[in-house]
Amino acid sequence: MTRHIIGLLLGTEDDWPTAFEEILRRLGPVDGHSFDCERITIEPFSLRDQPRYRMVIDRLAYWYYHPREWLKKVALMDGVYLLNSPFTFQSMEKHAAYCAMMRLGLKVPETVLVPYKNPLDNSRYAYTSSRYNQPFDLDAIAAKIGYPLFMKPYDGGAWRGVSKINNADELHAAYDASGEMLMHLQKAIDYDVFARSLSIGAETMVMKFQPDLPMHERYAVEHDFLSADAGMEALTIGKLVNAFFRWEFNSCETLVKGGEVYPIDYANACPDVALTSLHYYFPWAMKALVKWCVFALATDRQAKLDLETDRFFAVADEPGMSYGERLGEYRKLADAYFETERYQDFCATHLARLDQLVLDWVAGPDFDQLLIRTVQSVYPVHEHDKFIAHLRGLLHLWVRDESARLETA
Ligand SMILES: Nc1ncnc2c1ncn2[C@@H]1O[C@H](COP(=O)(O)OP(=O)(O)OP(=O)(O)O)[C@@H](O)[C@H]1O
Ligand SMILES: [Mg+2]
Repeated sequence: MTRHIIGLLLGTEDDWPTAFEEILRRLGPVDGHSFDCERITIEPFSLRDQPRYRMVIDRLAYWYYHPREWLKKVALMDGVYLLNSPFTFQSMEKHAAYCAMMRLGLKVPETVLVPYKNPLDNSRYAYTSSRYNQPFDLDAIAAKIGYPLFMKPYDGGAWRGVSKINNADELHAAYDASGEMLMHLQKAIDYDVFARSLSIGAETMVMKFQPDLPMHERYAVEHDFLSADAGMEALTIGKLVNAFFRWEFNSCETLVKGGEVYPIDYANACPDVALTSLHYYFPWAMKALVKWCVFALATDRQAKLDLETDRFFAVADEPGMSYGERLGEYRKLADAYFETERYQDFCATHLARLDQLVLDWVAGPDFDQLLIRTVQSVYPVHEHDKFIAHLRGLLHLWVRDESARLETA
């Protein structure tokens, strides 16, 4: 029996780690491999220390430097498998992701990066900017993009600094307020449907997203909200982004208008997988995470640090290909990177019991306790009953649908 330890690098969350640990424990050994899970603590480390972990799921390093540098060390020196690697997430934030997907011919809305509004706190900046910063006409840039547009940080997250701009007055107010944040101006897409996909390894779930509603209502439980073509396109874009950057745990936002699919945000180093926001989709996400980790460890999948972008650029540069044909080629590259077929075979052969196991767990008292504890830690006391009932309703719905699915399977 080969023993693997999966390390979890966590922030404030306790819901999905508990679910992940519990499902892994109930699953037990798989094909001669056993899996344990530990929550990683932060402490001094020698750069030559041997890590205990073969794999790390990271939710923290985007914000904290010490664990980020530890991740780089274990990636470079010890070949530890990371979801996700800081080598790409630190250097390839939103801005780089926009560039890459434009380079591949995707329908990224027109986007312009403008210089900082306020000088940086650096004694040499005044000299450099007076000598080299070109004056520019913000109104002319906005007019060329066209209103409405979005102003948002080049590396954003959690709506920090995002504003919708309808006219020149709002433009100047927002730019003045941006201070030392580096900003994109991006054409607003007037969309019919917002499709947000969550990818974990070889699996992707495309969900209908309602950004204007409170967090717990943003993901709608709706199954056929996209045409078959648009659904396939949203799915392919999500997989493509992740295969391109070697991100294995990420969410991708696309706006769908008519038959067109516009990607607007697809660098989410720590995608939201909270029980309170994913609700109905939470069991799917936890299963996908367990399956991917088990697959990667049991098949000794190797982590790669280099991106080999040429393979994708060759498709982008192939003359005479239609957009749809290009997407088809990208899809093949993405499926090859994620070993989709091998993954599916592995799951069918070695993880067939997982569906029933997770169904039993979600339908049982232990999961209900987790649900209650999660609500208690997220919402104020006077809202506990309401949110417990709300979440239970959605999870009962999942249990009903999943039972029916397993019966017909
Ligand atoms: N080009 C656009 N057209 C239409 N709506 C947009 C556009 N860009 C951003 N938005 C809206 O603004 C929201 C936040 O923008 P964005 O996703 O880029 O920022 P964020 O900080 O990453 O937010 P989040 O953490 O929710 O992903 C989007 O969910 C969408 O509703
Ligand atoms: Mg976003």
